[in-house]
Amino acid sequence: MQKITIAIDGHSSCGKSTLAKDLARELNYVYVDSGAMYRAVTYYAIQNGLISNGDLDQIALINALNDLNITFQKSADAVHPEVFLNGQNVESKIRGLEVSNYVSTVAAIQEVREFLVEQQRQMGENGGVVMDGRDIGSVVFPNAELKIFLTADTDIRAERRFKELTGKGEDVDLQAIKENLIKRDHLDTTRKESPLKQTEDAVVIDNTHLSKAEQLLLLKQLVADRSVTI
Ligand code: CDP
Repeated sequence: MQKITIAIDGHSSCGKSTLAKDLARELNYVYVDSGAMYRAVTYYAIQNGLISNGDLDQIALINALNDLNITFQKSADAVHPEVFLNGQNVESKIRGLEVSNYVSTVAAIQEVREFLVEQQRQMGENGGVVMDGRDIGSVVFPNAELKIFLTADTDIRAERRFKELTGKGEDVDLQAIKENLIKRDHLDTTRKESPLKQTEDAVVIDNTHLSKAEQLLLLKQLVADRSVTI
């Protein structure tokens, strides 16, 4: 079967990454978590004192971008590729609430987006890629053969993220997670640069009541349909 490009966009914490990872593994495609790249830049800003009292030093961050080397590598004991920042595995560090609280501010900066979108396009230039994010079908790969817009009920999304973080031993508050999701969705959909939006050619999937296995099956069917029609 011909290898296609699959773009999965949607709201915060609705399981895009889980679906994209499962699909990439089944199809033997490359998986790229574009959100992890925005999270890695945000982590860098926090670590390097570019955020103080809630204020981000945008100019300093833009000037530092060329010092950032973001890669995905699969460790021997990991199932999926993990994100590395300047050679350091930051996979677990970028998932916490501190990064989540600033990532949408960082992701709204045009220069940050240009820097990361160029790398994302290179990662997917040979096709056979599943990439998830907010602007993949609209900006990164507008010609993707399959575009998915994923969403789910806000309470369900907050509960899923709560379980994910507590499962990793983090001490988190469900209400704080829910507020973060609502805030990020607002910032992501209303920003000037590449806002999250549903493209006309995207297939909309609400996975509130779908299991992981059910959504994967649905996706595999869509991929099979697209692959025979191109
Ligand atoms: O996993 P979750 O849905 O919580 O978020 P993520 O995919 O890790 O993305 C984190 C944040 O990065 C989003 O809230 C967006 O602000 C930003 N992002 C973006 O602007 N464009 C992308 N292609 C991916 C993420």
